[in-house]
Amino acid sequence: MEVIIKANMKHAAELVAQLVADQIHKKPKSSMGLATGNTMEAVYDELVKKYQNGALDFSAIHTFNLDEYIGLPEDSVHSYRSYMNRFLFDRVNISKENTHLPMGCAADLKAECQRYENLIKKYPIDVQLLGIGRTGHIGFNEPLSSLMSRTRDKSLTPQTIEQNIGLFGDQKDLMPQRALTMGVGTILEARQIILLATGSSKAEIIAKALEGPVTSMVTASALQLHPHCVVVLDEAAAANLQGTEYYRWIYENEPDWAPYR
Ligand code: GLP
Repeated sequence: MEVIIKANMKHAAELVAQLVADQIHKKPKSSMGLATGNTMEAVYDELVKKYQNGALDFSAIHTFNLDEYIGLPEDSVHSYRSYMNRFLFDRVNISKENTHLPMGCAADLKAECQRYENLIKKYPIDVQLLGIGRTGHIGFNEPLSSLMSRTRDKSLTPQTIEQNIGLFGDQKDLMPQRALTMGVGTILEARQIILLATGSSKAEIIAKALEGPVTSMVTASALQLHPHCVVVLDEAAAANLQGTEYYRWIYENEPDWAPYR
């Protein structure tokens, strides 16, 4: 794992967007794992800017989102499908039929999870973007999720419901309490993982996930097992880490990071 600490949220998002852009340049038919949440909005804005400047072509990529709420029709303004359309898909030259999310309103949720897993097997994910929830979840893998889990339905914790209720205009009755999510095992099969976390509200959970023990109580801690994981933070999210001096030294001195410094 490599931990990169940028001065602020904007610079952190710019770095993540650059890493995504470089992957698409290197392999125009990349399979990209995408995430939702407030943190990702700045990354998608940066990617859209690159597209508008003619520096990025999304036409051949496939995308796989981590999760979707159960029971919301795709065209609900609150669905993650709508989020993705709004922040990225409607703003770039991506083929919509190549954009995939689990369907939270499928009649047979088990079959839907299997369909999603099969599709990911067909287009193995090159780079998976992740945010982190305050419970330490990646996707919607709440505490006690098996670290080998596959795509399935999960009940959300009260803390996650509280964290995400803003997207539902604070109306609790509108917000589903369950979601379909890629499993931790599914996520760990991506060739590369990039986790972005910004702001002081993430400082405590980031320290647990990166420097604490690997535990299903903090599913992001399973990223310690991944051979190619980059964590991009701003100063506020990095505030509780012990090893920052070393992480900064690596970023300043590793030749691989020279183009990004
Ligand atoms: C949701 C998503 C997660 C994401 C998290 C972070 O819970 N299911 O995949 O990491 O939001 O949200 P935010 O960026 O708004 O803090």
